[in-house]
Amino acid sequence: MKAAIYPGSFDPVTYGHIDIIRRAAEMFDVLIVSVLDNKAKTPLFSVDERVNMLKDVTREIPNVEVDSFSGLLVDYAKEKGIHVAIRGLRAVTDFEYELQIAQTNRLLSQGQLDSIFLTTSLEYAYLSSSSVREIASFGGDVSMCVPPVIEAMMHEKFKDKYRTQD
Ligand code: PNS
Repeated sequence: MKAAIYPGSFDPVTYGHIDIIRRAAEMFDVLIVSVLDNKAKTPLFSVDERVNMLKDVTREIPNVEVDSFSGLLVDYAKEKGIHVAIRGLRAVTDFEYELQIAQTNRLLSQGQLDSIFLTTSLEYAYLSSSSVREIASFGGDVSMCVPPVIEAMMHEKFKDKYRTQD
């Protein structure tokens, strides 16, 4: 079985991520999309919410599993017996960061975890979860960035935020 992990924050999942998931799922027997539970960051959506969002938007892709992890990616990959990490590259600005992560992971795993990069489809090259969060926080239209179910959850989340600030 050829398996790969697509790790990320997915806060929230965007059409750019979904494009990478679809394409990677065609290349591997199993693709595990895994949400990093990063205790150092305060995300907009909880890990459970992000896992559920990912399950929802990938439910028609049979070989995709959704999971979460904390700690090092290399430890999680070893536990799963997986040797490939998938990452998307939008533009040259992503390259340095991704190269650093990929090389660190190869070093930490003693060559057991390699990275494969898929270039994001051009129509999604401008998309990032952080800009989607910012647009939605001001009540802007994110329908071109995320599926309707995620858009609805974002508006709900920001409605909650405004309510708690009252
Ligand atoms: O969607 P993101 O936030 O760009 O994803 C970054 C991610 C989750 C791939 C990366 O931060 C990660 O793998 N973190 C886990 C901790 C780790 O293994 N660090 C060592 C590599 S620098």
